Amino acid sequence: MSKIKVMTIFGTRPEAIKMAPLALELARRPEIDALCCVTAQHREMLDSVLNIFQLRPDYDLNIMQPRQTLSTITSKCLLGMDDVLDEAKPDLVLVHGDTSTTFAGALAAFYHQVPVGHVEAGLRTYDKYSPFPEEMNRKMVGAIADLHFCPTTANRDNLARENITKGVFLTGNTVIDALQTTVVKEFTFAEDVLNQLDYEKQKVILVTCHRRENYGQPMEDIMSALAHIARTHPEAELVYPVHLSPVVQECAHRHLDGIANVHLIPPLNVEEMHNLMARCYMVMTDSGGLQEEAPALGKPVLVLRKETERPEAVAAGTVKLAGVSYNDIVALAEELLCDPAAYEKMAHAVNPYGDGQACRRIADAIEWHFGLRSQPPEPFSGT
Ligand code: UD1
Ligand code: UDP
Repeated sequence: MSKIKVMTIFGTRPEAIKMAPLALELARRPEIDALCCVTAQHREMLDSVLNIFQLRPDYDLNIMQPRQTLSTITSKCLLGMDDVLDEAKPDLVLVHGDTSTTFAGALAAFYHQVPVGHVEAGLRTYDKYSPFPEEMNRKMVGAIADLHFCPTTANRDNLARENITKGVFLTGNTVIDALQTTVVKEFTFAEDVLNQLDYEKQKVILVTCHRRENYGQPMEDIMSALAHIARTHPEAELVYPVHLSPVVQECAHRHLDGIANVHLIPPLNVEEMHNLMARCYMVMTDSGGLQEEAPALGKPVLVLRKETERPEAVAAGTVKLAGVSYNDIVALAEELLCDPAAYEKMAHAVNPYGDGQACRRIADAIEWHFGLRSQPPEPFSGT
């Protein structure tokens, strides 16, 4: 029997971090012909991940533009995928999560009548505009997909509520697979300021913020709150690798430049990010990925958003939803900086999102779906 041709499609930093270990796992399977197509919705931030995982895409649509709009990303991906799918003729396309690349990749595959597998399926807030446009992207991909790889039981239950019960696999999140390969005991950072920090004595707060629904007043308030926290807590050191979006760059530098204990640095590569996270005191973020990684490393997280589609670590006590108001963010950060009991309550490692076996389960599920294996993979049981 000929090999099954499986094409991974991704375009942004977080998709790459979560798909790279899967692409490598598929490439190791003798029965699978693994192909990789990147849209390059992100350019530098994508290439950084490809370099770390030494992944060389077969196709690169190179679509990124400064200040790109949702329509330009979606239409350029869709048109670019036409030629790729015509040429490669995959048996299955895999997309990840909820970006514009994810949606356009799934739609393009559907137009070519190629089956779609959705990695990181079933996350929901049930608020169409939050996160925007991600909530609708993942719902629309859920409607198109034939195989759904859910990180958690809550994600699987969300799909069941939408009557999606066939082709659903409980796998854990592939980001935990990635995390197991990156965090090491001895690590030297490329940014010297990160080597000079004393992670035992100083309270290093790792910050990221980039979401489109936070553009405007929410982001203004978040940055003002960060500036206030830094100015009133000299024992804290805020490290903020700033996303390359010009909107985010402008807002972050306007509020935070010139504060001695705030370090605005370029985006970190994923090894640096994971090793910084493993050493920091706490995390303040609106990122989805950081909400999954930091709990696994036992770091308290304040989420700079009004809602989250990742309630598992909130239930486990490691993550708090801080919201986007100045007063709430300042109050919660001060509690973690000043109250050791409150800090200890949150600082414990939990692994609701995976056990490092997600890629193996997804590859096994694909082989089972195509009749190459007699049993489906055992479901991720949570820890
Ligand atoms: C995208 C995803 C979001 C995800 C985020 C991860 C959509 C709609 N949004 O949002 O779900 O959380 O990626 O980071 O798919 N830029 C560069 N170089 C890069 C990357 C970005 O210069 O390597 C700049 C460009 O000016 C680009 C802008 O950032 O136009 C915004 O990038 P875009 O992918 O449109 O949005 P994100 O906010 O990154
Ligand atoms: N990340 C990184 N360098 C950075 C910021 C984030 O490698 O400077 C990693 C982070 O560890 C996580 C992923 O990027 O794995 C999250 O991406 P992002 O926050 O851009 O997107 P989201 O997860 O919110 O979609």
